[in-house]
Amino acid sequence: MVLLMNSGVEAVETCLKAARKWGYEVKGVPANCAEIITVEGNFHGRTITAISFSSDDQYKDGFGPLTPGFITIPYGDADALEKAINQNTVAFLVEPIQGEGGVNMPPEGYLSKVREICTKHNVLMITDEIQTGLGRTGKLFACEWENVRPDMVAIGKALSGGFYPVSACLADREVLELFKPGDHGSTFGGNPLGCVIAREALKILVEDGLIDNAIEQGNYLLERLSRIESDHIVDVRGRGLLIGVEVKPESGGAIRFTKALVEKSLLCKDTHGTVVRFTPPLVITREDIDWAVERIEEVFTED
Ligand SMILES: Cc1ncc(COP(=O)(O)O)c(C=O)c1O
Repeated sequence: MVLLMNSGVEAVETCLKAARKWGYEVKGVPANCAEIITVEGNFHGRTITAISFSSDDQYKDGFGPLTPGFITIPYGDADALEKAINQNTVAFLVEPIQGEGGVNMPPEGYLSKVREICTKHNVLMITDEIQTGLGRTGKLFACEWENVRPDMVAIGKALSGGFYPVSACLADREVLELFKPGDHGSTFGGNPLGCVIAREALKILVEDGLIDNAIEQGNYLLERLSRIESDHIVDVRGRGLLIGVEVKPESGGAIRFTKALVEKSLLCKDTHGTVVRFTPPLVITREDIDWAVERIEEVFTED
């Protein structure tokens, strides 16, 4: 089933509410005792609940009191997940690759181990694919790289081709059907214009081969970026068209490079202080990448 919302954070919030309801009504967790496990370095948006389990102080300072019921463990550590689960755990929320956290790739096999652990302990696996989903990493969902099917998925951003607020929570009937009329909703969630745009964006994504383009051009961009010889760069990583270039802390922070790139008409974002994140549109061509890399190289090789 699909429950349509507007912003990405509302899709996440919808997953969390549905998971709590499932915990009380299906799993049998005592009232108001549900726990949800999250990971360090996450980014799920900026409502009070989403910032409550952020590990970034900037998002939280000045906005307390925060929402209780969340536990945070290290990212990429499946053993930590198994240890953190107790009888009141209803869900584990994770990004397949942390976008805002600095394009952090979990170790190979992490998502499938998470799937196994969640199934074993009757805990819902929720993936936030708002940044990774809908083709960006070269699969419709980044979880497909490990053949993993989560219980709930949050999507947004690219659901409208990136220019209209449409987001969604995807889940099986046994979870989403627990919402009764009036339990959850939004005036504009699933509005006609949003739905038409989302359907068209999905159609274009598939029919124009944008998912394959993401992996083909992404591999090329990753390779070109990896070959740049720069004293500032410590790591180049990513999958498909979600790529991070990590710079040394002493190089003056990622923002210095993103500002220089804007001067050359290239828009990208600094994340986590030291990572320049490249998320070009999925329609990008090899010629566009050659044009961009020339400029990126200039910026990273200047003193
Ligand atoms: C992984 C992830 N989750 C949630 C969000 C929040 O989406 P929105 O800004 O549409 O609320 C973002 C936004 O960048 C995101 O990257």
